[in-house]
Amino acid sequence: MASGTLIFLRRLINNPVQVSAISPSSVFLARAMAAGITPDTGRLVEFGPGTGKLTDGILAMGLPPENLTCFELDPIFVRHLQDRLPRVTIVHAGADTAPDHVAPGVDRVISGLPLLSMPRQVREAIVGAAFRILAPGGVYVQFTYGQKAALDPAQLEALGLQVRFGPKVWLNLPPARVLYYSRIGEG
Ligand SMILES: C[S@@+](CC[C@H](N)C(=O)[O-])C[C@H]1O[C@@H](n2cnc3c(N)ncnc32)[C@H](O)[C@@H]1O
Repeated sequence: MASGTLIFLRRLINNPVQVSAISPSSVFLARAMAAGITPDTGRLVEFGPGTGKLTDGILAMGLPPENLTCFELDPIFVRHLQDRLPRVTIVHAGADTAPDHVAPGVDRVISGLPLLSMPRQVREAIVGAAFRILAPGGVYVQFTYGQKAALDPAQLEALGLQVRFGPKVWLNLPPARVLYYSRIGEG
């Protein structure tokens, strides 16, 4: 089987807009995105797992694989993940459809989606979908290569959300920042 990095580069060449990153996330970014997850964390959803770098970081925290559901659009990444992580549920569908597949009450959504490469309405639909499945107090964790959140203040207000800026991870190509989205008053 081809290595994850090779598969990633092939899919990047094949579909640069959808993949929108020059390399998979580093182990350091994966650790930062998974911070706070424990074996007792409830159900968790991942958006845009690609070859599974963040997925590995999530499972390294001791989360039972059966508690994790991933949404990925690319069929090659889907097959790669299904072969590599058979106990994780991999859904071949867009992140915006998550409420059609997952019952509400999810503890966290971890996203490696290239939100800044997507149209404004699509970003809002995806983050909105995350909060339709997140439990009260649930958090949407997103990394970005940019300087600001993917939703502007008007969009955040419309969804009743706030954003907290987390750590910047320099040991990643390119360096990335972790952002935490939560419902206003819950973060
Ligand atoms: C920047 S890559 C990140 C891959 C991986 N999470 C990582 O950090 O190395 C973005 C991933 O999101 C996937 N993707 C893009 N749009 C999506 C969507 N609407 N729903 C689900 N996955 C999507 C791409 O196919 C790709 O695997």
